[in-house]
Amino acid sequence: MEEIIIKNAEQIAGIRKSSQLAGNTLKYISDFVKEGVNTNKLDKLIEEYMRDNGAIPATLGYHGYPKSCCISLNDVICHGIPNDKTILKEGDILNIDVTTILDGYYGDTSTMFTIGNISEEAAKLVEDTEEALYLGIDEVRPNNKFGNIGYAIDQFAKKNKYSVVYEFCGHGIGLEFHEEPQVEHSAPRGSGALMKPGMIFTIEPMINLGKPKANIDKNDGWTARTIDGKLSAQFEHTVLITETGSEILTDVGEYDIFK
Ligand code: MF3
Ligand code: CO
Ligand code: CO
Repeated sequence: MEEIIIKNAEQIAGIRKSSQLAGNTLKYISDFVKEGVNTNKLDKLIEEYMRDNGAIPATLGYHGYPKSCCISLNDVICHGIPNDKTILKEGDILNIDVTTILDGYYGDTSTMFTIGNISEEAAKLVEDTEEALYLGIDEVRPNNKFGNIGYAIDQFAKKNKYSVVYEFCGHGIGLEFHEEPQVEHSAPRGSGALMKPGMIFTIEPMINLGKPKANIDKNDGWTARTIDGKLSAQFEHTVLITETGSEILTDVGEYDIFK
């Protein structure tokens, strides 16, 4: 197994800048997320925004992935591919996941959006999934164990009768897209590697209303859906371990996700 990279000050500054651009990409696209728009249009705007700001979309060509972001609607857990035929409609919940490469450094973040009137169940899932992410981030500090992130998220999910997707994880990030460690969103208390200042990784819980298992689309090889067709939600931040706790590198402040 490879080691978890401790980033130096210069690397941290570069990853912070890329992460802020990723966060600002989501803030920028939030104005265009509305009923009637197709997801390919959003992808094009995202690519243009990243390039205008000197960055490259990390997903484009990554293991053959064809687009500049992932857009995952309703029962899609993650890795939904933007396309002309998927048109946002009232009642949809969707995740937009963007990863920037700026001056060689990576930043990765995603958020949910909702379209018009959504069910109470869907609204609660979206709010609770964001809370799950922040409960995970609360565990980030020197000398804690990575498994406590997943333990905190899973305990919260169980209490609320959700399931936690276990087939996709958070990941170290910064010099590459996916580095060590794998950050599990469901894990035994006290398990995993020790957290040290200078480590940078994502936390990106995917929470389901029904069963946790994913089905990968046989035609496109990417789109991961819930096996029972029930809703799934996800939020993601890139996080740095500081001397005293954590810094959310992709945090760019509030914007409206209810459209
Ligand atoms: N951004 C996703 C993550 O959070 C990875 C997408 S890889 C892709 O790790 F190829 F599907 F784009
Ligand atoms: Co991501
Ligand atoms: Co990620």
